[in-house]
This record gives sequence, structure tokens and C-alpha cells, in this order.
Amino acid sequence: MKVGVLGTGVVGKTIGTRLLGLGHEVWMGSRSAHNETAAEWAAEGGDGAGHGTFSDAAEFGEVLFNGTAGASSIDALTAAGEGNLADKTLIDVANPLDFSHGMPPTLTIANDDSLAETIQRTFPYARVVKALNTVNCRVMVEPSRVPGDHVVFVCSDHPGAKAEAGRFLMEFGWTSAQIIDLGGIRAARTTEMYLPLWVTLMQKLGTADFNIALSR
Ligand SMILES: NC(=O)c1ccc[n+]([C@@H]2O[C@H](COP(=O)([O-])OP(=O)(O)OC[C@H]3O[C@@H](n4cnc5c(N)ncnc54)[C@H](OP(=O)(O)O)[C@@H]3O)[C@@H](O)[C@H]2O)c1
Repeated sequence: MKVGVLGTGVVGKTIGTRLLGLGHEVWMGSRSAHNETAAEWAAEGGDGAGHGTFSDAAEFGEVLFNGTAGASSIDALTAAGEGNLADKTLIDVANPLDFSHGMPPTLTIANDDSLAETIQRTFPYARVVKALNTVNCRVMVEPSRVPGDHVVFVCSDHPGAKAEAGRFLMEFGWTSAQIIDLGGIRAARTTEMYLPLWVTLMQKLGTADFNIALSR
């Protein structure tokens, strides 16, 4: 499948590389058509990899991942172009973190709203799925880095898009039992608000290879 990965940070590179390994074609998007990180990543990725602007990547992808800085995701997706997002599954892994006030980070959007809901409202024809934002990117694409039956969450107002995102998660290695469906996109506010605790735990544990497991 053709996948557009918006973001040139560690998340974009990690998801992009994993998708290439699974046989997908991946276009990485940036503010600049000549982003050095994206160019290097695409050169290493070989035939299936390309890079360009956010708009180029969004146009290329039949499915899109939002791996941009949460506080700038609306700007990045605006640059991607509303028309390039329309009717596509947009898997939003971003978190609206603000590190400017020290640790743990605060959230630029919280409580009665979320980044994913804002994206869905701003781009009503996109099919936004919040997923994978509660784990480190290496765990996103290789859940076996953490032992046990730990979980990830998905939510969306679009059942078909949620199912499509679920198929990508299962390609990454998540089992259906590990994928917890929280319902509509409104639930994204709950998973995004976990992040200050995630960052605190990461500092205490000294590793990013951990996750939530549910005992019933
Ligand atoms: N690190 C993790 O393991 C992890 C885990 C879960 C969720 N997340 C979330 O995933 C997202 C990506 O994280 P990251 O650490 O890979 O990268 P990041 O540094 O948070 O974001 C890098 C991307 O954001 C874009 N960006 C930055 N400022 C922008 C602006 N003013 N306008 C438009 N775009 C802008 C950059 O564009 P350019 O390419 O043009 O520079 C780049 O593509 C974040 O939302 C983060 O919270 C990260």
C-alpha cells in the first residue's frame, strides 16, 4: 500500500522504516522538500521510499500517519492540504506536549478536548484514528520489546478507518487482544492525558520499553 508518513523525527523514521520492511511504499513529508533527514532516510530506504513536502506525502499516501510535533500538527496538516487528507485514514500518533515549563510536560490541549478531536474538526473529511500515542515509537512497531499482554488504544468516529488502522497495528505485531477499542474520537483526550505520566515513568524507569497492561 502507499503510505504517507508526515514527520521527519524519530517517530516518522521508525514507522516509515517498519512500513518499508513490511513491503509498503512510503513517502515521508516535511515542511521542506529538501529536508536532510528525510532525504537520508529515503536514500537508505531504497526503491519503496521517497520524500517531499507534507503535501507531497499526503497526496502520495492512501493511508497517512501524523508523526508531527503535536503543537504544530494543525499547521503541518494544513500544509498537507485538506484535499489530500479527504476520505483517507489518518492515524494520529502525535501528542500535544509542551516541554517549555519543564518536566513533566504540560498539554497544549486537554480535559474537554484533544489534538485528535481538533484534527477531526479542522479536517472533517479526513478519517482520523488516534492510536499508538501511548507507547514509545520503537514499541509502536515492535510490541515484543515489552514482555506480556500490554495494550494499545484506538478510537475514531469512523469504524472503517479504525479497522484499517487495526490492520496496520497487527502488521506491526499487535494482537487483536492487545488492541483496545475506546470508541469515538472523543476518547483521544483520555489517552493524550496519559502522556505526562508516561514521561514521568520513563524518567523513573530509565527506559522507554514499558507499557500499560490491563488486569481484569
Ligand atoms: N518519540 C516517541 O517515541 C513518541 C511516542 C508517541 C508519540 N510521539 C509523538 O509523535 C510526534 C513526533 O515525535 P518526534 O519526536 O518524532 O518528532 P517531533 O520533533 O515532535 O516532530 C517533528 C516533526 O514536526 C514537524 N514540525 C515541527 N514544528 C513544526 C511547525 N511549526 N510546523 C509544521 N511542522 C512542524 C517537523 O517538521 P520538519 O520535518 O519540517 O522539521 C517534523 O516533521 C510528536 O507529536 C510526539 O509527541 C512520540
